[in-house]
Formats: sequence, C-alpha cells, structure tokens
Amino acid sequence: MIIKSAEYLISNVEYDKCPPATLPEYAFIGRSNVGKSSLINMLTNHEKLAKTSGTPGKTQLINHFIINKDWYIVDLPGYGFAKVSQAQRKKWEKMIEDYLRKRENLVNVFVLIDSRHTPQQLDLDFVNQLGEWRVPFSLVFTKADKSTQLNVSRNVKAFLNKLKETWEFLPANYVTSTEKKMGRDKILTFIDEMNMQ
Ligand code: GTP
Ligand code: MG
Repeated sequence: MIIKSAEYLISNVEYDKCPPATLPEYAFIGRSNVGKSSLINMLTNHEKLAKTSGTPGKTQLINHFIINKDWYIVDLPGYGFAKVSQAQRKKWEKMIEDYLRKRENLVNVFVLIDSRHTPQQLDLDFVNQLGEWRVPFSLVFTKADKSTQLNVSRNVKAFLNKLKETWEFLPANYVTSTEKKMGRDKILTFIDEMNMQ
C-alpha cells in the first residue's frame, strides 16, 4: 500500500466522541513504551505523526489519524504503566474497554509485545480478554533490532504456545523494528486486504 497522506484528527477520552464510524479503523495497543506510536510513524512514513517518548505513559488518550483519507489509525495509551494511581488505571481500563467493545468500525487491534521478553502475564491477560470480548486482533512483536533473531523467534513461539493452552485458533503475528524498518510491508498489506473486503 502506498501512503499518500496521514493526518492527525482528534484525541478523546470517550469512544462516542471519536470521528464518525464510517471508515475502517485499526487500533494499536500494548504495554506502555512497547513502541505503539513509533510503529504508527513507521507505517505511515511520518516521523512525527504520533508522539513518541523514551518515558512510558506518553500516550494517554484515544488518538485518531486518517490515512489516505480512507481509513483510520488509532494510537491508544499503554497498559501496565506502574506510575499511575489505582483510580487513573480504572478510568483508563473503562475508556479502553468501551472503545474496544463498542467501536463499530474497528476492523482489527494490533497488540504490541516486546520481542525481547519471554511471555509476560500482563500481555497474555490482555490478549485473552480480547478473545473473550471477540475483538479481532493480531500480535506485533516489536523492537526486534534489540535482540537476536533466535531470541525473538523463541519468544514469539513461546507466546503462541501459551495462547494455544486456551484458544483453538492463533492470531496472525508480525515482527517489527522501527530502527530497521522491518515488518512494515506485511502489516500494510494486511490492512489493504482488510480494507478491500
Ligand atoms: P506510550 O505511549 O508511553 O505507551 O509508549 P509507546 O508504546 O507509544 O512507545 P513509543 O513509540 O513512544 O516508543 C518508546 C521508546 O521505544 C522510544 O524511545 C522509541 O524510540 C523506542 N522504540 C520504539 N520502537 C522501537 C524499535 O523498533 N527499535 C528500537 N531500538 N527502539 C524502539
Ligand atoms: Mg505512545
């Protein structure tokens, strides 16, 4: 897919104030600092479209971007950020649950997982929750440049094996690195195919 345009639209705390649900939408979620905003910038070829930061907790709202005037990308806040109060966390969980379960035009959620680590319970819990809600998702293993190829493939396999314990069907998965511009074509091809359906 060729990215002709990518524009920031709006940031919200409530799903019902998001842009009209008339175009296909793809959301990016995952642990705080896993690389969601960086991945969005790599996919769209716009270095500064989504705000990135070395400090976790940068993205706090539901951020909509419109791509090729034809589909939406949504940058979501990260989960598992230790430095937030219980009350803030509850608010965040409600916002995300409402968005994920009620947004009618949501085609797929990309769940980002740090490829350097063995399966983390927090990520498994989130993915299992999506499954229970019947929200379609794929897995994206990020920061592949930060460890060896062998380690990445072991971690991907281990994560999928964990999912096999509960689910009959395994989700699509991608390995990415924004440093090496890796994984871009596969994700954009998937989005292109979904948009054509
Ligand atoms: P929050 O919005 O805070 O939840 O974070 P996020 O998931 O949006 O992460 P963000 O894109 O801001 O990236 C966090 C840090 O990881 C930044 O310092 C990025 O430069 C770095 N980073 C993201 N992706 C990669 C990658 O593929 N390789 C490397 N080496 N660094 C990456
Ligand atoms: Mg972010």
